Amino acid sequence: MSDWKIRRAPTIQTELEVPGDKSISHRSVMLAAMSNGPCVIKGFLPSEDCLSTVSAMRALGVKIEQADETTLIVHGVRRAFTKPKGDIDCGNSGTTMRLMAGILAGQPFRSRLVGDASLSKRPMKRVIEPLTRMGAKITAEGKDGRPPLVIEGGKLKPIQYVSPVASAQVKSAVLLAGMFAKGKTSVTEPTQSRDHTERMLEYFLVRPQKQGLTVSVFGEQTPESREFMVPGDISSAAFWLVAAAAQPHSRLLVKNVGLNDTRTGVLAVLIRMGAAIREVIENPQAEPVGVIDIQGARLRGTEIRGAEIANVIDEIPILAVAAALAHGKTIIADANELRVKETDRLAAIAMNLRAMGAQVAETEDGLEIIGGTPLKGARLDSFGDHRIAMAFAIAGLFAEGETTITGTACVNTSYPGFYDTLEKIIRQPPGEQTHVVTSLPTH
Ligand code: S3P
Repeated sequence: MSDWKIRRAPTIQTELEVPGDKSISHRSVMLAAMSNGPCVIKGFLPSEDCLSTVSAMRALGVKIEQADETTLIVHGVRRAFTKPKGDIDCGNSGTTMRLMAGILAGQPFRSRLVGDASLSKRPMKRVIEPLTRMGAKITAEGKDGRPPLVIEGGKLKPIQYVSPVASAQVKSAVLLAGMFAKGKTSVTEPTQSRDHTERMLEYFLVRPQKQGLTVSVFGEQTPESREFMVPGDISSAAFWLVAAAAQPHSRLLVKNVGLNDTRTGVLAVLIRMGAAIREVIENPQAEPVGVIDIQGARLRGTEIRGAEIANVIDEIPILAVAAALAHGKTIIADANELRVKETDRLAAIAMNLRAMGAQVAETEDGLEIIGGTPLKGARLDSFGDHRIAMAFAIAGLFAEGETTITGTACVNTSYPGFYDTLEKIIRQPPGEQTHVVTSLPTH
């Protein structure tokens, strides 16, 4: 179904689980593929983006079995990949393209990475530049460093890279390339971005070093094959967290969710806005995992800027919806990175919020939202961006009348099953608590 029709929802009293973390799912397949034997990955997110990484790895000669919907067995090839027969299609996934570019930079063969229309518009100079300095030859066939990318890899030299952007994708591309270079490769970032690659290297016994905002890896090590458990994705949970936070008397428990503190900025923001939140880490493995317990309130505006932006980079669309529902002014600044995501998210958020009657001003690097004007249902486009579609579906739960979201197929890139959960929440009988485990697609 490509259009969603959404109406105002009752107070939320629910427990739920969300599918596996997207960033961690990508990395688990890549590291396992580089390892020295079979790795069982549980809780894998079988979304279109992560499946692009699975097919990319298969194209490089890695055997990957799918034992069930969310369990993969990846047979590591000891960093010895084989030349792909054709192009590697990264679909909509920026993480696949940028991280694969790092791995392919270190391979003694030529490869070509392609993507869909949205990915073909995204900037790749940010990875081309450091990988070229390491010795790879990369040609961007698109305008101004845009995909497709032709990579002629080979012997790499280690570099000390100071990244101009706080981007986990850039950091990871350089670190993964560093695995194929002789010696120590370092990346320094301007502010802390998600640290899943570093944690996973550590877990697969490739001892990275971390000092402040610099991470280093010693190359030519082969990750040790191990079982890995992917926690639920806090970026997917964020939609339900806001749905509960913005409604006094709502109560939501999210179980088995990743609580890595480079990703939990959304909780800090919602607490500042007035929600009551408790998080309990139950199982600190490679990644901390636990429960979030949230109680709704009358939210108030806040400021989100500076170093916090990287921590909430994927949550800005849904936090902008929370801001529109809150009383007072919310300022989002230093968020120019949102202009180069799956779509220009600042423009998309401003357009859709305005269509719902909210007061919003778009600035060069952010948004200013005066919350509290009642939202009205509208016909809204996803702009082909999964997080815009889901954020505005949640806005629809608070709007007067019906909200239609068009172009929702993109949601399968990160959260297959989102709409099923939404329907269960909408249909929940008043006063009754339900337990919703997001079902994953059966096709
Ligand atoms: C991701 C990093 C972030 C994020 C994206 C996933 C990752 O992108 O927005 O959804 O898995 O490394 P940037 O590194 O471009 O900020």
